[in-house]
Amino acid sequence: MKPHLISGIQPTGKLHIGNYLGSLKNFVALQNSGKYECYFFVADLHSLTEDFDPQEKPGQILNVALDYLSAGISPKKSVIFQQSSVPAHSELAVILNNFTPLGELRRMTQFKDKSESQSENVNAGLFDYPVLMAADILLYDAAFVPVGDDQVQHLELARTLARRFNARFGKTFIEPKPLLTSASRIMSLDDPLKKMSKSRPQGCLFLDDTPEEIRNKLKRAVTDSGREVKYDEQSKPAISNLLQIYAGIINSTVQEAESAFKNATYVDFKNAVAEAVIKELTPFQKAKKALKPADVKKMLSAGDKKAASAAEKKIAEVQKRVGLI
Ligand code: TRP
Repeated sequence: MKPHLISGIQPTGKLHIGNYLGSLKNFVALQNSGKYECYFFVADLHSLTEDFDPQEKPGQILNVALDYLSAGISPKKSVIFQQSSVPAHSELAVILNNFTPLGELRRMTQFKDKSESQSENVNAGLFDYPVLMAADILLYDAAFVPVGDDQVQHLELARTLARRFNARFGKTFIEPKPLLTSASRIMSLDDPLKKMSKSRPQGCLFLDDTPEEIRNKLKRAVTDSGREVKYDEQSKPAISNLLQIYAGIINSTVQEAESAFKNATYVDFKNAVAEAVIKELTPFQKAKKALKPADVKKMLSAGDKKAASAAEKKIAEVQKRVGLI
């Protein structure tokens, strides 16, 4: 039997090239390696931990599903589903809460960061976010979880909870390991010290951007002093970020990308990055346009059923272990 692999993306708005290189592209490669039984889901419950408009949520959920499919995740090869459609996620989180000391959650850097960035809305869901994430993973006996480096601490909690639960109630869960992507931190084009984010649209390359928009954003992208295309995160954060993007897209290392632009000017280099991004996104955008929302919703409900049948077995086992049934 193949090891299980799971990951999710929150539906909070349009996805960008950072999400693509850090998550989607990597998910597709992992799926196509044939080495894993893959589960990919829309983390809609997690997305409620930040401010949202209920009118926009259905469109955001559908958009993540569209992006999964357009990037090449196939319902024939992977289980694609919506988190909230499988109630066992919530139920396992509620049970795991009882084995999670508050101190372990207080230490989470994402919680600390978000408590600052959304200081008007520091809610219990945000605090409990890592426990729900542990439930997502442990429910499917996932051995591997592709994530960005900002999620490693959450994964460590999932491992701790699995170990603790197994020690007390008998072997129930698998301890999951993170699979890190090399391009896990793509920075904003207009400020290479800030993570690329939809909240800075000028510095953000959205997957749905037109070629013109991509060219313009790269033209306006900040560069560093000097004139050499060199990877050096300290002294050349902007160029290093563009090298990361370029290398991620053409599947090379940053060193290879750097030597390809040895004698190039910043302008030539930025043009080349723009064209590489456009070339990568053209088939993605074509595929996305060809998809019908009604079909995607059907596909998602079929995935929900498959996920639920695995999750229901596990949650019943957990209920038994803790003496609920
Ligand atoms: N927290 C993840 C992120 O923001 C999304 C997520 C939720 C996730 N549940 C998960 C990722 C389970 C992997 C496994 O990127």
